[in-house]
Amino acid sequence: MCGIVGYVGKKNDALKVLIEGLEKLEYRGYDSAGIAFLDNNKIQIIKKQGKIKNLKQFLQNEKAKIGIGHTRWATHGFPNEINSHPHHCGKMTIVHNGIIENYNEIKKDLIDKGYVFQSETDTEVACALLDYIYNKTNDINITIQIFQNTVRGAYAIGLICDDDFENLYAIKKNSPLIIAKGEDENYIASDMPAILKFTNRFITLNNGDFAKINSHEIKVFNKNGTEIEKEVKKFEGDASSIDKNGYEHYMQKEIMEQPEVIKRTLNEYLTNNMDQLFKNMPNFSEYEKIHIVACGSAMHAGLIGKSLIEEYANIPVDVEIASEFRYKKLFLNEKSLVIAVSQSGETADTLAAVEIAKQHNADTLGIINVVGSSIARETDLVLYTKAGSEIAVATTKAYSAQTALLSLIALNIGQNNIDRGELKELLECIKKLPTQMEILLNNDKLYQEIAQTLYTQKDIFFIGRDIDYAIAMEGSLKLKEISYIHSEAYPAGELKHGTISLIEEGTPVIAVVTNKEIAEKTISNIKEVRSRGADVTLLTNTNCDVESDFYHHKIVIPTTHKLIQPLLTILPLQKISYEVAKLRGANIDQPKNLAKSVTVE
Ligand code: F6R
Repeated sequence: MCGIVGYVGKKNDALKVLIEGLEKLEYRGYDSAGIAFLDNNKIQIIKKQGKIKNLKQFLQNEKAKIGIGHTRWATHGFPNEINSHPHHCGKMTIVHNGIIENYNEIKKDLIDKGYVFQSETDTEVACALLDYIYNKTNDINITIQIFQNTVRGAYAIGLICDDDFENLYAIKKNSPLIIAKGEDENYIASDMPAILKFTNRFITLNNGDFAKINSHEIKVFNKNGTEIEKEVKKFEGDASSIDKNGYEHYMQKEIMEQPEVIKRTLNEYLTNNMDQLFKNMPNFSEYEKIHIVACGSAMHAGLIGKSLIEEYANIPVDVEIASEFRYKKLFLNEKSLVIAVSQSGETADTLAAVEIAKQHNADTLGIINVVGSSIARETDLVLYTKAGSEIAVATTKAYSAQTALLSLIALNIGQNNIDRGELKELLECIKKLPTQMEILLNNDKLYQEIAQTLYTQKDIFFIGRDIDYAIAMEGSLKLKEISYIHSEAYPAGELKHGTISLIEEGTPVIAVVTNKEIAEKTISNIKEVRSRGADVTLLTNTNCDVESDFYHHKIVIPTTHKLIQPLLTILPLQKISYEVAKLRGANIDQPKNLAKSVTVE
């Protein structure tokens, strides 16, 4: 969480770069924002509670050649001005993303040494520690090395020292930070889109690396202080991929991009040749057990993956919420494949799960969207989802791309269990998929009509079985996170074991029924809630469509091959969530209390 940007150079105005960069990073946190810049040979700090636009109002016409900025998702202390970054102590000014785990003991030690703290943050402690070490060593490189040996936790830090206004320093461990290279100017940022307007060339830092950056030179050091060579890479996305392109919200744009995203993701790995079905993907069939580790929506994609891999590939799959994985007894060995699914590639819990899997000798595979991100670098092998930059905090296109890739893994392992006739049919279905998705996405009138019945409700239930349950979970999460309406997803058969007591006249229930083999059972469960007064919206496909009077609204989606059906089923639920949130006037792209990239455990 939190976004960092920094600038040093002769070409641009640091303040302009910082503010524009922070605006692009606001998806990472938006509780408060601040900047520090060089003004008349002195560091000036301006910080404000709330969004970047609040901060902007306080800027006059200042101009600077060096500066650092921060947009915060609060971890230690309330999101007020005092706790906002940048923090300044002695000769050091820093912005930080991550958590310093042992900050309490360091703080006590520094208080004993005479330091006084204003804020509740771990960042102010890190800043004071850097100042303390620097006063002893008078050497910034050595200071950073000692600092790294003293602190535990995760950090991406941008630093300016009062004795060296020519250079900007960057320190990284387990939190994202890139250095971007311009002409007569250089940048640091949490994420490439922050500075993509200015340059597309960048350098990634490994954990423990730090860098000294001025307008014409970037020097990178490893944690021992040895200078290391770094490759300058080119960012593939373009600036337009991070614009709204005429849509009112990023989420809306990203929902609508899904046909293209799915086509791109499938085309990256799948050929049209039944004898050589895969490209850019090794065969995974030697594994005896698969574990999918992920959080939130990525975990929901994992549940779909589990069902499909078990059915088509005949390999048992566990899906683990990454934050729980590390506290469990693990039965992993060299015959286990641990698949980490993550859009950002920075989710701290998922990253920690990968590290543990490696300690247990399991092979690790990343299904990742952000190229070069921490999990992508940590896993033995990475398959990229081709979703492009996802800016809205609530994931849509990246979730779908994750689902598509997990379906491909099921096919990859299970291809010999599928006869050629079915394979041919699957490839035909894949060809039709983007058009079917487009038609489904353009059924706005129906989704708006359904949203009208939902947006004033207090509780909404979603039900489904097997994959439809996994989709119900994702639909429920999407709805609650952006509309703030309480909602729950239940396996359809489980409702009567308790929760059905909450169903009363008018309670909205959204039922997902796309699997013909189990449709009858779910339909019985729908009738159970209907007879207790529930207001039912049925989401079904042409295979399971039944004429009846047990629903108020019905959405019928095309039937396609089971391996790709989920890519259609989720779309109406994303659209309805969006329409409900819009009717409630919610901040759709940046829901309260959330941030896009969860780099704390
Ligand atoms: C919900 C959402 C989150 C993420 C989760 C994992 O809309 O976006 O639940 O799916 O925080 O994030 P990544 O995929 O970046 O690891």
